[in-house]
Amino acid sequence: MPARAARLSHTEDHLFSFIDRTRELAEQDGAAPVPLGVGDCDLPTPPHIVEAMRQAVRDPSTHRYPPYAGTQAMREAAAGHLGRRFGLRPDPDTEVLATLGSKEAMAHLTMAYAEPGDVVLVPDPAYPVYGTWARFCGAEVVRVPLRESNGFLPNLAAIPAGTARRAKLFWVCYPNNPTAALATSDFYAELARFALRHDIVIASDAAYSEIYYDCAPPPSFLQAPGAMECGIEFHSLSKAYNMPGWRVGFAAGNSDVVGALRAVKTHTDSGTFTAIQHAAVAALNDTTGYPETLRSVYRDRMHLLCDGLEQAGLHVLRPKATFYCLVRCPRGMDSAGFAKKLLEDAHVLAIPGHGFGPGGEGYVRLTVCAGTEPIREAIRRITAVHW
Ligand SMILES: Cc1ncc(COP(=O)(O)O)c(C=O)c1O
Repeated sequence: MPARAARLSHTEDHLFSFIDRTRELAEQDGAAPVPLGVGDCDLPTPPHIVEAMRQAVRDPSTHRYPPYAGTQAMREAAAGHLGRRFGLRPDPDTEVLATLGSKEAMAHLTMAYAEPGDVVLVPDPAYPVYGTWARFCGAEVVRVPLRESNGFLPNLAAIPAGTARRAKLFWVCYPNNPTAALATSDFYAELARFALRHDIVIASDAAYSEIYYDCAPPPSFLQAPGAMECGIEFHSLSKAYNMPGWRVGFAAGNSDVVGALRAVKTHTDSGTFTAIQHAAVAALNDTTGYPETLRSVYRDRMHLLCDGLEQAGLHVLRPKATFYCLVRCPRGMDSAGFAKKLLEDAHVLAIPGHGFGPGGEGYVRLTVCAGTEPIREAIRRITAVHW
């Protein structure tokens, strides 16, 4: 067997090895942990979206290769959604691209820009794809700390001028995974000025833009003055419409950047199954009020979880958006130790914060991608443990 490419040996996999170890442990002793680790919603895709797919799949025209950029209807529905939600007016032909969920598109954007010698600015902590793919492309990853004291927003003034000069891409993600923090319009305006000054592409991961409940609807980076000159934003149907298995989303932003992503994707995949794009159009043109219903489900679950954790004596950073919350490690414990104790003593699966980068040390992340009964059970188990 030939040796694997060196790029694979640099991959940080402690997050995934923790999840695997957990699964093994559950199998060994038969006591399944309550799964509050992975952000994979337990609820089904709404029936009207499934029905749109069912009808589309019967039409043989959907069985052919889809257009590389996505169907016209999908790009128009995406543009319409951005218009209604954020007041944006992207051109569906040049400024919008259908994607297979957002993960592949974020990886492929990196491939379109990052080369050896370049810097990619990656928040710390962060969803691992941004840094992993920068390393795959041979670029240098510079971690930009997100600190609780700064609302988990990067301090742009602390980025050295030499680093900014070499940077090609700057990743941001709000509402944020794993911290659940929100960006302000002022921060986005400052970020756009920074990007234009240093000639950097802003890659904004908006996977959680519709999962908010105790705040005003979160803004889009693309609303900031100058953002359409330097930015691209990734939207996903996975979280907003419970469609993670369908693999459908879209990117929107500066036409040059969207074009670069499209160029890589054209040589890599042949698009999302057209019938799925039909279903995505039904989701984006929602007339059922489903996103609001989903938000109220998450709101109730999150309040239940946070109240329970606080009653158990733990310090929770109460979120206003996403289906995640960070819990501070009890005194004398690091995030690996806290997650281990939650798993072994309380049989609750949480993700240690350092799995998202060193900046996540000091916290574990819990999700509410589980029904109220499992959440109540997790609280009972956590309350029974001495912290
Ligand atoms: C921050 C963030 N971005 C993007 C994704 C990818 O989502 P998808 O590829 O399903 O759109 C996830 C998935 O959990 C995520 O947490």
